[in-house]
Amino acid sequence: MADPDGLVAGEGPRGRRRPVNDRAGSVRHGEQGASGLKEHRSKDEHRSDSAVHANRPTTSTVDFHDNLRILYLPLDESALGTGLRAIERGTCRWGRCPSKEREETMGAGSDLLTPEEIWRRYDEMEVRLSAPLSERMLELARVGPGQRVLDLATGRGEPAIPAAHRVGPGGSVLGIDVSASMLAMARERAAREGASNLELRVGEASSLEGVQQGSIDSTLVRWGLMYMDSPVDALDCARRAMVPGGLLVAAVWAEPDRTPFYSLPRSIFERYRRLPPIDFEAPGTFRFAQPLRLHRDLERAGLRLEHEEEIEVPVMEAETPWALIAWMRAFGWARFVNDLPEYARKSWEAGVVEAAATYSKAGLIRLGGVTRIIVASRPANE
Ligand SMILES: C[S@@+](CC[C@H](N)C(=O)[O-])C[C@H]1O[C@@H](n2cnc3c(N)ncnc32)[C@H](O)[C@@H]1O
Repeated sequence: MADPDGLVAGEGPRGRRRPVNDRAGSVRHGEQGASGLKEHRSKDEHRSDSAVHANRPTTSTVDFHDNLRILYLPLDESALGTGLRAIERGTCRWGRCPSKEREETMGAGSDLLTPEEIWRRYDEMEVRLSAPLSERMLELARVGPGQRVLDLATGRGEPAIPAAHRVGPGGSVLGIDVSASMLAMARERAAREGASNLELRVGEASSLEGVQQGSIDSTLVRWGLMYMDSPVDALDCARRAMVPGGLLVAAVWAEPDRTPFYSLPRSIFERYRRLPPIDFEAPGTFRFAQPLRLHRDLERAGLRLEHEEEIEVPVMEAETPWALIAWMRAFGWARFVNDLPEYARKSWEAGVVEAAATYSKAGLIRLGGVTRIIVASRPANE
């Protein structure tokens, strides 16, 4: 992983180390320690250091190699004390993570998959868990029989496919997405479900080529707007495609601290290594986490805000913490975690196993977050 800050935290397998702060647990990301940046030590000192640190560091240390400044954090004793030891023993606090199960789950090859492979594995689960969100969006957009609906960034067909069922044979749904492979999956599902009134087109939401102005009754965009390069252009095109008074319903993720599917693996990872801060203005999961940003873009596109609400949506469900870890690894964390030294990697897993207990109910772990739904209209007098 590139380390844009030039600052990495975690246990390093090589290089020079020097304790800089004996207040175990008190060093935070970005702190340098009192001794300053650069230290040169003799080979003998190195050897004795390796002996001392053969197992794991107990204090914070700084290290310099390859011109990178490395901040060693004291490893989280609580995670080690319970999670890691439980893993080593083959029993967890809540009794469902023997290491054999880990091997079976993690050996299933969840790492470094293509987006299509990831979704072939997890699509059904996400469709099921997020169905209440799609249903609520259709309700708020007042989608009914005979209507013409546009679904921007439809991906694998949400909420286009449930919309197609709702508008029935007298209505039609047009789903647009830039990804042909996601649309191929949407087509397969639509065929399975007999949704023949659904057209799926590869296209750019910010141009909507071929969509007649004033031809659409309502527009949906679920978890898509925040990834677009020009969301204002997409909203503007959607407004012009709709009839006056037409409704646009969009779903976006709330702030990171209310979206544990994202923030949980990240915060545990950051015990060992610092990540670049989230850019709330750039295309990404949290671009519209702050409501005012979306209000501003709606206004710029000439849409009128009508209603706003929040809904808690799980995106993953697992019977064991290993299945949760496999899911996290599949959705991007493998790349980061594989870059950690072995000890920190195990500790990250231990941290997830421990945290999983918090999200477990009746033997199932469920992770998701708060989604904000907004309803906006094309002014009726336009
Ligand atoms: C997180 S997925 C959401 C997919 C689907 N709406 C759902 O809720 O499952 C985001 C989708 O936005 C699509 N996307 C991103 N930028 C786009 C653009 N400018 N125009 C059309 N689709 C876009 C991506 O290809 C991806 O399928």
